Amino acid sequence: MAENVTPQQLTQTHEQALRDFASINDLESLKFFTSQTVGKKSNLGLWFKQLKSLDVEMKKELGPKLQDFKNYWEQACVSKLQALETAALNEKLKTDFIDVTQSYPTQKGAIHPLSQVQRHIESIFMGMGFEVADGPEVETEWHNFDALNVPANHPARDMQDTFFVNSTQSESKNNSVLRTQTSNIQIRKMLEKGAPVRIIAPGRVYRNEDVDATHDAMFYQVEGLVVDKNISVSHLKGTLETMLSAVFGKTMKVRIRPGYFPFVEPGLEVDIWWEYTDKNGEEKGRWLEFCGAGMVHPNVLRNSNVDPEIYTGFAFGFGLTRLVMMKYGIEDIRLLSSNKREFLQQF
Ligand code: FA5
Repeated sequence: MAENVTPQQLTQTHEQALRDFASINDLESLKFFTSQTVGKKSNLGLWFKQLKSLDVEMKKELGPKLQDFKNYWEQACVSKLQALETAALNEKLKTDFIDVTQSYPTQKGAIHPLSQVQRHIESIFMGMGFEVADGPEVETEWHNFDALNVPANHPARDMQDTFFVNSTQSESKNNSVLRTQTSNIQIRKMLEKGAPVRIIAPGRVYRNEDVDATHDAMFYQVEGLVVDKNISVSHLKGTLETMLSAVFGKTMKVRIRPGYFPFVEPGLEVDIWWEYTDKNGEEKGRWLEFCGAGMVHPNVLRNSNVDPEIYTGFAFGFGLTRLVMMKYGIEDIRLLSSNKREFLQQF
């Protein structure tokens, strides 16, 4: 059994500890010092045990001193531990850090040219009192064909090679197709609102096409429909001229000639006078097909619960994708759905 501790010995131990402590600069040494000074197996632990065997006077003197020693060194070791850990972390951060203020030059996004022109067209038509309508791209066979005066087995169905989603039902209202044209919205809007009605309906359409520079299997159309009393072909012509002149920023000439679509009577083709500069720098012009149009067929009005004895209307449907190509001189339709940055950055 070791000799009992004395107050002098405790003071000496404390002074020696102060000297040792001052020179500690690393976590390893501190750990060792802590276990030697206040750890379970330190002299301090032994001295607390020895207290029991001391006489009362000595107990009274030494007891509080031992406790003070313990408190002092426990506190000192914890403080030094925190200081050393902080210093180590700061040292590490000098070389190992993330500069959150550093950033890389980002590429600026922009509105897709199709959306830009679509938005422009919507605002032009809204300025003429039109409402912008929307509808399903997966459509019933009935809304896409039958209601538009194109019953099953009608030869006109061949004009639009169709993706059928489901064609097993005898009732065309129960079959679905990817809509081949935005004309389905004519039916939907008239059934919903009756007459008079004045809408445009921009959106995607799908056809089982062989894709090439001017044909895609998914493209955008804009449908137009005006049904009211005393509507005539001249309203149609004026509306399209106004829209086209606003899109191209100059007066555009429009020509109308006979065409065939089962849902209009008479059916019309609309051409625009296209001015361009040829390879030799010569200013030229020619008529370009722009869209299908006509006066809404009485059967279509009837199918939409509108009385053809009271109302007449015009309708048109143009290829928005083709219009965007004309406006920007894009020669390959596939670029518009390509996600090619070099292409898209130009707009
Ligand atoms: C129609 O789709 C009719 N619904 C248009 C219409 C509406 C007529 C209202 C009368 C009254 P058409 O199949 O011609 O018509 O298509 C209209 C336009 O879509 C075309 O003028 C063309 O610009 C565009 N288009 C047609 N097929 C493609 C294709 N594969 N890729 C890109 N654009 C196309």
